[in-house]
Amino acid sequence: MGNQLFLTMNDGHKIPVVGLGTWKSEPGDSTYNAVLNSIKAGYRHIDTARAYDNESDVGRAVKDADIDRKDLFITTKLWNKDQGYNTAIEACEKSLARLDCDYIDLYLIHWPLKDKRNESWRAFIELQKRGLCKSIGVSNFTIANLVELEDKFGVIPAVNQVEFHPYHYQKDLLEYCNSKNIIIEAYSPLVHAKRMDEERLVAISGEMDKTPAQILIRWAMQRGMIVLPKSVNENRIVENFAVFDFEISDSLMKRLDDLDETFVTCWDPNNPPPYAPV
Ligand SMILES: NC(=O)c1ccc[n+]([C@@H]2O[C@H](COP(=O)([O-])OP(=O)(O)OC[C@H]3O[C@@H](n4cnc5c(N)ncnc54)[C@H](OP(=O)(O)O)[C@@H]3O)[C@@H](O)[C@H]2O)c1
Repeated sequence: MGNQLFLTMNDGHKIPVVGLGTWKSEPGDSTYNAVLNSIKAGYRHIDTARAYDNESDVGRAVKDADIDRKDLFITTKLWNKDQGYNTAIEACEKSLARLDCDYIDLYLIHWPLKDKRNESWRAFIELQKRGLCKSIGVSNFTIANLVELEDKFGVIPAVNQVEFHPYHYQKDLLEYCNSKNIIIEAYSPLVHAKRMDEERLVAISGEMDKTPAQILIRWAMQRGMIVLPKSVNENRIVENFAVFDFEISDSLMKRLDDLDETFVTCWDPNNPPPYAPV
């Protein structure tokens, strides 16, 4: 397992702290090679989604990798057009077929689709009972969405996967999730590569003799999150995993916290588009 660290979710299952992101990893050999290279580099956690159209390439790489399925942690997500009770059950079965797996480690509702998210969550509780998903969680949920789920079902998601990096430091959401024992998974932790040259980040990177990407990943780890850097580049896949042998000091963590500018690179649950993304 190399240097991999784990957090324990509220259902007792362990989750590796750094996972490979695969959004915009091209279907086919690009995703396949990225997943194989990541496993070779020590990653044990892969984050995919129905909407990324690359679940079957992830599955192919997992089969070809020299590793037991039980030593890997695979996340996929329910896409909006499949939300609802019966449709969510069917979508999970289809994702399992594409991944060529008997179970999903973590299944997420990709987006808090109004009018459908509660029925989807009811299906997720059933899928977990049936053993098709070991853990169930959500993505892009606001505090209000999380409160609603708890009130209606009493079953709290294991994780909430949201955009999280120093330029979008969602402190209130993090504190709420910590208080409920919901782990935050930081997506777009590298700010979708849009701040790699930002001078304050570059200065901290110089002071620490670590790359900007490593600083961003380590910041999220030290704030108690799961981190999902995406790359299809073999060298960067290795670079993004070399984050277990150093620590950012309290004073530099504070300087990173201060980079917050509510910079959203992806879709924004607090200002959702007037249409439901499908
Ligand atoms: N649930 C959701 O709604 C949601 C939304 C967004 C993302 N996600 C998940 O979170 C993952 C990560 O987010 P993301 O893909 O938006 O962005 P990200 O990981 O913040 O950034 C990815 C970008 O950074 C580049 N990059 C990677 N490592 C680098 C390095 N060491 N130095 C310089 N550039 C580097 C990548 O290019 P190369 O590939 O060419 O290296 C790519 O352009 C996704 O892949 C997905 O699994 C989930």
